[in-house]
Amino acid sequence: MERDAFDVAVRHARRFLDGVSDRTAAARATTGEVAAALGGSLPRAGVAPATVIEQLVAAAEPGLVATAGPRFFGWVMGGSVEAATAADLLTVAWDQVASLQEMSPAGAAAEEVAGGWLLDLLGLPAEASFGLTTGAQMANFTALAAARHAVLARAGWDVERDGLQGAPRIRVIVGAETHPTVLVALRYLGFGAPAAVAEADTQGRILPASLGALLASERAPTIVCAQAGNVNSGSFDPFDAVADLCAEHGAWLHIDGAFGLWAAASPHLRHLTRGVDRADSWATDCHKWLNVPYDSALVACRDAVAHATAMSWSSAYVVLGSGREPSMLVPEASRRARGFAVWAALRQLGADGVAAMIERSCAHAGLFAALVGSVPGVEVLNDVVLNQVVLRFADSDEVTRRTIAAVQAEGTCWLGGTHWQGREAMRFSTTNWATTAADIERSAAVVVDAFEGARQARP
Ligand SMILES: Cc1ncc(COP(=O)(O)O)c(C=O)c1O
Repeated sequence: MERDAFDVAVRHARRFLDGVSDRTAAARATTGEVAAALGGSLPRAGVAPATVIEQLVAAAEPGLVATAGPRFFGWVMGGSVEAATAADLLTVAWDQVASLQEMSPAGAAAEEVAGGWLLDLLGLPAEASFGLTTGAQMANFTALAAARHAVLARAGWDVERDGLQGAPRIRVIVGAETHPTVLVALRYLGFGAPAAVAEADTQGRILPASLGALLASERAPTIVCAQAGNVNSGSFDPFDAVADLCAEHGAWLHIDGAFGLWAAASPHLRHLTRGVDRADSWATDCHKWLNVPYDSALVACRDAVAHATAMSWSSAYVVLGSGREPSMLVPEASRRARGFAVWAALRQLGADGVAAMIERSCAHAGLFAALVGSVPGVEVLNDVVLNQVVLRFADSDEVTRRTIAAVQAEGTCWLGGTHWQGREAMRFSTTNWATTAADIERSAAVVVDAFEGARQARP
């Protein structure tokens, strides 16, 4: 059978990745422009697969953002290491349904091995149950569903059978700097907005005294959400103190470590996560710092029964194997085989390679903060402990905004804006394996130039 379209796609994929470092970081076309290039009315007749791919590339490429490239510093975006990208290409071709062992022994096995390696690498309990989800949002959702089961079961309530109506009230406590995806997960689970918010310090870390006061104020089934890696500052909650308080008050402790949990993979950075292994559940993204293609994340739970009870389902046509069944631990029935790419990234890098990659990103954040932060008028607003830098220019919202816009328009790199401690700021995040010190120096020079221009244009 002819497979010309594959050859065309691989050729374009290779060309794109070979050139991604030279691409303008931002897209050159808008969504509307790409839609127009792709669109028109539904064609009546088909065309050859290779022609489809050529048309897709021609229409889509101007609208691609170089998030896979080494100078994209927006959000928290990983690239993809070569073996993971290649394994994902195979995953698409193999088209396995990694739901049950029976459907894909290979898909289930890759997940099992890769998940076990992740627990080891991240210093989480080896006996924890785990699932691979689309992202940290769904990992948070899954973990908090397990938490909901466990705290209500302890109060004598079966939430899977009886739902939340009439259930004992669950109190959810989050930190003031909790990521919005945790709040969304809580909403999806029927909790609404958190009942209590623990105060945070200037880096976004939960203040144990505030959490302690909230925990002591009421006796109720309780879930506490803490964080490894604040999306702006990169800071870590004080897990030992938080875990002590949760143990004292019988609360379930969940940790959203979408990117920060990866610090545990580095002997030099692991101290930032001290106490993280004392939690009941964890969420982290593989598509961030492990550098596997989107979408890929890990949820892990100490209480495997709570995890499985919250997620599992059955039907007469479903035959369960004797071991771990992937779809019984995540909120998906049919699902792609994410384990292959995770396995491939871990196999390519090894534990030492992951540690080196994490440490390199953090060194790059330090370099960027030093280069830009040493310019008079630039203020680094956070303690740069990880891969995140928050900057403010001329102590002015307007100049900060103009600097960000000028950097984005220039195109060498991409950085976004944020609000930090009540002020507008630029945020920098680096997690891509391919970023070099030269990329950081080049980008820092662009930011400094943009600032000079923005400052001069100040009315
Ligand atoms: C701390 C934190 N939690 C959760 C998320 C959400 O992750 P995802 O987009 O993979 O669902 C992010 C994304 O940046 C994050 O930084």
